[in-house]
Order: sequence, then structure tokens, then C-alpha cells
Amino acid sequence: MNPGLEIRTDYPLLTLNTFGINAVASRFVSLASSDDFKKLIESGLLRREPFFVLGGGSNVVFCGDYKGVIVHPVNKGIRLLSKSTGCVYVEAEAGEVWSDFVDYCIDNQWFGLENLAGIPGCVGASPVQNVGAYGKEAKDFIDRVHLFDIQTGVQLWMDASQCGFGYRWSVFKGEMKNRFLIDKVVFRLSTEFCPDLQYKALSSALSERGIDSPTARQLADTVKQVRDSKLPDPKKIGSAGSFFKNPVVSRAKAESLLEDNPDMVVFPVGDAECKLAAGWLIEQCGWKGRTIGNVGVYEKQALVLVNRGGCSGAEVKALSDAIINDVESRYGVRLECEAIFV
Ligand code: EPU
Repeated sequence: MNPGLEIRTDYPLLTLNTFGINAVASRFVSLASSDDFKKLIESGLLRREPFFVLGGGSNVVFCGDYKGVIVHPVNKGIRLLSKSTGCVYVEAEAGEVWSDFVDYCIDNQWFGLENLAGIPGCVGASPVQNVGAYGKEAKDFIDRVHLFDIQTGVQLWMDASQCGFGYRWSVFKGEMKNRFLIDKVVFRLSTEFCPDLQYKALSSALSERGIDSPTARQLADTVKQVRDSKLPDPKKIGSAGSFFKNPVVSRAKAESLLEDNPDMVVFPVGDAECKLAAGWLIEQCGWKGRTIGNVGVYEKQALVLVNRGGCSGAEVKALSDAIINDVESRYGVRLECEAIFV
């Protein structure tokens, strides 16, 4: 191994995943700078052994000990690259905590990310997963992503247009999975604050606080408050945020379901498809608030599975499968997990 890069063995992951699952990695390496990324790739370790990149650990469920290398980017740094009329380009390193990055941008009057305030995880995960909330997604602001090719060690920039962004999706989860390590991301933000209040939960929360035209800080704080009212605090209750994606079905399917379930929650997607609220479907099947063994469905939000104390990945998988099967047999809609089983 190259000097300066410490590879730990039998490394505990308990505090590195928000579900709070007690798993151990056979090897573990933290990357504190772009130079560390380079050294790790040059070592050839990732070409010899299975590996998994662990950011904030807010979207993973370890199904047992990890027999391979856990790569954990902790590189920090936020830089203003350039400023032109109306917009700024800001570079953030992969190990920056997403929520801190959003706050930093707001403090510097770089606008756009307000609705994405309070999302757990790291900057490096934002393009992989195309994180989203309250009508905005990371893809709306990502300009380009800096990568290391694991096979060749070549460093390259990928433009947002090449990233294949979709709903909680990108090429980094699809055809380019495990091909690259992401060390930094450039965001294109605005110098003018232009709030997006289309999402009803947000506009109602603002009016409840007596705010008609919020500042960026007020908007971000309200987003955090709405999130906190629905989602468990990972410091207190283990979870992976939304465990399932909201399923997209054909308009015909949605219409036929609506005939029997007139109060079903449906959001149109283009002309031909509709997104259904997975939380609503799960709740209708009676799962909200239920617990099986050490894992349960959160009382305030059926889309979230929670650790009731010392749960294993296998228990999470069993509950998730039971919910998927139940929703499918009742509604003919197959839910997909947003969380990743490792
Ligand atoms: N609903 C229910 N029962 C529930 C939960 C939700 O009936 O138990 C209904 C709500 O009444 C609402 C609809 O489902 O009409 C949608 O619920 P909500 O607005 O709470 O959003 P969501 O679909 O549950 C998504 C994202 C969240 C994001 C919020 C806000 C996904 C998988 N999840 O949740 O993202 O914060 O919208 O934009 O798309 C995450 O990915 O970890 C995450 C938290």
C-alpha cells in the first residue's frame, strides 16, 4: 500500500450508518483528499476486492458483515469557482455534509438549494442518488462531477447531461456502477433568491409561521422543520429516510386504482404516467406504526422503516419484503426500495 493511506481491518460500521446496524467491514479506508483517492486507485485494491463507497450512510442497510473494502470519503472543502451575471459555480468535495453545504451556500447568498436543506448524507452521494425534496432535485443544480476511473486511474469531468439523472437515479447507480469514485461536484447556483413554494406542505408551513415572502434562510429553516415533523431524527431513531421510492405507473393504471380508491394520492408525471405516494399505499395496507421484532414502520410516516433497537439487516429485509408483497397483492403495484441493501 502507498504510504499515508491507512487500511483498517475488521472496522465497526455501527456509527457510520443511520439505521444503526452493527456490521463490521473486513477492510476500511477513509479518503481525506483527492490525493488519497489517487493513492487508493493506484494501489489496485479496488480492482482485486469487492468494495462499497459509504458516504453519510443514510441510505444503506448492511445485511451482514461486509467482506470487502468500505471506501469512506471525508474530503472537505467548498470553493467559489466563478461568478457571472446571475449565477455562481461552487465546487464542493465529496465528504462535505450535504446539509452543512446547503447552509454554507445560503450564508454566502448562493441560492437554489433551500428546498434540499436538512437532507442527510454527503455531497458525494448527491449525484449518485440525485437527492430530492419539496419539488427540487440535486440534478437541477449539478453542473459537473469530478471522477477517478477505478480501472485506469484517469481523472475526468462528467457534465450533468452525461449523468443520466432520473428520480433517485443516475448512471452511477446504473451502467457505470462501481466504475468511478466521485471526489468533488460543481454546482451552478443563483445570486438571486427565487423561492419555489409549489409544494403544498411547504407553503402551508410558511403561512402557519405567518411568512408571506420568505428569505432563503426562513425557507430552509421551514423545510427542516417540516422534515423534522415527519422524519425520525437519525441521532435518536435509526432509519434510512424514505425506504421506498414513490412508484411511477401508467395513467391508465392510476385511473383504474382511483375508481376503487378515490382518495388515493396521485401526482401526474408528464402525460402518460403518474407517481403514487408509497407512504399512502403502505398506510392503507395497515403497516403504519407496526413493529416486527426489532424493526418497524414509523408512526408518523409509513415510507420510513425504523430500528426499534439492535435490529439486523435481515430483519429490515424481511419487513421490506412483506410490505412490498402486501402492497403488490392489494394494489398490483410493486414498490422498489430507495435504500440499498449491502
Ligand atoms: N402519505 C400518506 N401516509 C404516509 C406518508 C405519506 O398517506 O404515511 C401521503 C401524504 O399525505 C402525501 C403523500 O403521501 O399526500 C406524499 O407524502 P410526503 O409529501 O410526505 O412525501 P413522500 O412522498 O413521503 C418524498 C421523498 C422524501 C422527501 C419528501 C418531500 C421519496 C421516496 N421521498 O416523500 O425524501 O423529503 O417527498 O419532498 O421520493 C428521502 O428520500 O429520504 C426523503 C425523505
